[in-house]
Amino acid sequence: MAIAFELNGKAVTVTAEDDTPLLWVIRDELGLTGAKYGCGVAQCGACTVHVNGQPARSCSTPVGAVAGLKITTIEGLGGHHPVQQAWVKADVPQCGYCQSGQIMSAVALLTENKAPSDADIDAAMAGNICRCGTYQRIRAAIKDAAGIAAALPAKA
Ligand code: FES
Ligand code: FES
Repeated sequence: MAIAFELNGKAVTVTAEDDTPLLWVIRDELGLTGAKYGCGVAQCGACTVHVNGQPARSCSTPVGAVAGLKITTIEGLGGHHPVQQAWVKADVPQCGYCQSGQIMSAVALLTENKAPSDADIDAAMAGNICRCGTYQRIRAAIKDAAGIAAALPAKA
């Protein structure tokens, strides 16, 4: 069936079964490969995107559930988002596989909380696994980005 939603600010319509994972649609139908497949069961965070501004596991979100909603992927951040700049400055990634999901979760955190504590960061990022163990640099980058958080968009 045809399912319409907004992807990174543009209206899209895809033909898919309602229960097709959103991640499949984003990657295979719409060609945006920033969101990654890790576990497929909502446990690792590699596939994190935003649905109406909230972080969501696209591997476990049926595309039928996002009809009419606003989806943002890492591509939608544009490459120069303050969080992406902080990630580059802190040289966060190692293999990189988890990092788009990490950044999407960090952006969601900083949109809600302009000055997160260590505990806030740990709570918000707990569902994003990094097998390379970049957690210390992730935390540093989030704190650095918080210093320029005024540039973050207000919550929709
Ligand atoms: S691939 Fe979606 S949470 Fe792991
Ligand atoms: S940078 Fe390799 S899994 Fe996170």
